[in-house]
Amino acid sequence: MRPYVTINIAMSADGKISTRQRRQVRISGREDFLRVDQLKARSDAVMVGIGTVLADDPSLTVKGEELRRHRVDQGMDPHPIRIVIDSRARIPIHAEILHKGEGKRVVAVSREAPPERVREIEKWATVITAGESEVDLEELFTALSEMGIRALMVEGGGTLIWSLFQCDLVDEMYCYIGNIVIGGREAPTPAEGAGFLREEEFARLKLRGATGVDEGVLLHWEVVPK
Ligand SMILES: NC(=O)c1ccc[n+]([C@@H]2O[C@H](COP(=O)([O-])OP(=O)(O)OC[C@H]3O[C@@H](n4cnc5c(N)ncnc54)[C@H](OP(=O)(O)O)[C@@H]3O)[C@@H](O)[C@H]2O)c1
Repeated sequence: MRPYVTINIAMSADGKISTRQRRQVRISGREDFLRVDQLKARSDAVMVGIGTVLADDPSLTVKGEELRRHRVDQGMDPHPIRIVIDSRARIPIHAEILHKGEGKRVVAVSREAPPERVREIEKWATVITAGESEVDLEELFTALSEMGIRALMVEGGGTLIWSLFQCDLVDEMYCYIGNIVIGGREAPTPAEGAGFLREEEFARLKLRGATGVDEGVLLHWEVVPK
C-alpha cells in the first residue's frame, strides 16, 4: 500500500522547467494557477525535492481562501502536509515551507544526515529517516501511508520526478506546456537523473486529456503500470 501519486509540473515550449541558473520562471497563467491550487487542496500531502526548496523557496500552501475553508470544514488542516526529500538535512531553517501556513511538515532524510541538523529540523517538522545515502522513496512511501496519506501531489523538481518514475511510484502526471522558449542545455527538464537506457525500461503513459489553458496546453497523462 502506498499513496496515489500525482505529479504536477510546468515546462516551456522547449521542455525546460527553469533557466540554466535554476531560477524559477512563470510558465503558466491564472487559469492554470487555479487548477494547481485546487489539485493541492484535494491532496493529503504535497512533496518537493530539496533542490526545489533551495532554488525557489516555495511554501506549497493552498492560496484560495475558499479552498482552505472547505478543507477545514472537512476536519482537515487548511494546507496539505508539506514534505521535503532531503537526504543530508540541508533544508534552511528559515525555509518558507517550514513556517508559512498551518499544518504538518515532514522532512525525509537518509541515515547519513548529520544528527545535529536533524535535531534542529525536528523543532519545525517530523523527520522520517529512510535510506542510507539518499532517501529510499519506497520505504518513505510506506511510512507516509501509515500516516494516513492517500493522495500525494509532487511538485518537482526533475531529479525527484526521475527517481519516482525509476521506482514505478507515479500514477498520473499533469504537464503544463507554456508559450515561452527558455533554452539552455543545462536548463532542467521534468525528468532529470540518469535516465533510462533501454526502451523496455521507459515509463509508458496513456493520454487522458489535452486542453488549451491560458496561452498553453495542459496534458494529463496516466502511467501504464509495468
Ligand atoms: N516548472 C516547474 O513546475 C518546477 C517545479 C519544481 C521545480 N522546478 C525547478 O526545478 C529545479 C530544481 O530541481 P532539481 O532537480 O534540482 O531538484 P529536486 O528534484 O527538487 O531535488 C532533488 C534533490 O533531492 C534529494 N534527494 C534525496 N533523495 C532523493 C531520491 N531518492 N531521488 C531524488 N532526489 C533525492 C537530492 O539532494 P540531496 O542528496 O542533498 O538530498 C537531490 O539532489 C529548480 O530550478 C526549480 O525552479 C520547476
